[in-house]
Amino acid sequence: MPTPEPWWARDDLRYEQGRLMFCGHDVAALAGAFAEPLFLYDARRLRHNVQRLHELLAGLGPPFRLYYAMKANRFRPLLCELRQTPLHGLDVCSPEELREALACGWRPGQLSYTAHGMMPEDAALLAALPEVHVNCDTLGAIRLLGEHSPGRRIGLRINPGIGIGYADSERLSYAGAITTKFGIYREQFTEALALAAQHGLQVRWLHCHAGCGYLDAQLPSFERVLQVVAGFAERVPGLQGVNLGGGLGLPHRPGDAALDLARWRSAVQAQLGGAGLEIAIEPGDFIAKDAGMLVLRVGYDEVKRDQRFVGLNGGFNLAVEPAFYDLPCEPVPCRPRPGPVAPATLAGNINEALDIWAAEVALPPVAPGDFMALLNAGGYASSMSSNHCLRGQFRELLLQPDD
Ligand SMILES: Cc1ncc(COP(=O)(O)O)c(C=O)c1O
Repeated sequence: MPTPEPWWARDDLRYEQGRLMFCGHDVAALAGAFAEPLFLYDARRLRHNVQRLHELLAGLGPPFRLYYAMKANRFRPLLCELRQTPLHGLDVCSPEELREALACGWRPGQLSYTAHGMMPEDAALLAALPEVHVNCDTLGAIRLLGEHSPGRRIGLRINPGIGIGYADSERLSYAGAITTKFGIYREQFTEALALAAQHGLQVRWLHCHAGCGYLDAQLPSFERVLQVVAGFAERVPGLQGVNLGGGLGLPHRPGDAALDLARWRSAVQAQLGGAGLEIAIEPGDFIAKDAGMLVLRVGYDEVKRDQRFVGLNGGFNLAVEPAFYDLPCEPVPCRPRPGPVAPATLAGNINEALDIWAAEVALPPVAPGDFMALLNAGGYASSMSSNHCLRGQFRELLLQPDD
């Protein structure tokens, strides 16, 4: 009987004759050329993900705006590659991200700046770039932008008071029962509108990002978020559009199904369809995460007490989400050896107890020098990496299928 395909397998990511192939490349062969941990990104998958979202929004009826949140992954070749796609532009969230986007050839008019933590120097930079769209998420940001760019058209980031995140994780929710630092709450909305008017700012967009990684189980909460957003929208005369942020999730575990995009679209249509508003979204993960993997080398495979540990040459400082957010990166041996499969805990090389990639996963025999791929490492891995313990060197490659 043929072995069933693993849950994560797809045309561009699968075993062929015992070798893990990604974007048409033999992963272990590529990784063998590098001494350090290696991030691989599949350009074709990136383009495919953008295309899926473009079709999703096009189905709502134009006009719409599809941004990519570059905080998910800002590798320059990747940002340049995305310029060849039908993206409207990039969502940037700091002055350096803004400068980096410009350095990669994006035009100011293609950038949406989510002004979290606005300082006077940030407002001065934005004043010099009047085509950049700015979403203000605090009263302080409205004040600063008003002082530096009076008359500007802006967006207000609101907090709907409802959070959505992978597996309903509170740590992945940007709103919800716990009061968060993100966005303007209903209680401050009147003051925010008055402050904008006082500084001659024209509120044209509302923005709302309620959390990260949501799948079908969270769609009812997403619908409630949309209802709240629609309520805010009614209070803004002359509103042009609503930006629903990012947060669209993807499967991380064997039981996860892909997000039902048709259901997502119906929900948006039902709540915001009749209002004549433009719809924007700015996902990061949905575009980048499953287009990337981190490839690490096995250092040891040994039993401590009754538990098998497999140690790798990179730790949680290269991809923090498994340790911080319980968002696993599926470990996949690049050239699985024949032999009995046994449970193992995959450990990183950082001197911290939380530096565990995965606990009790079924692994075939491995030997020092073997390569292990950690899937779904295209988003919030390299961009959030640190050199903790003075480790953390890595290389990144953007793969094209016909290289
Ligand atoms: C304001 C904003 N927009 C977009 C995103 C992208 O989210 P995701 O990568 O989950 O789609 C984030 C992520 O934290 C965010 O804070």
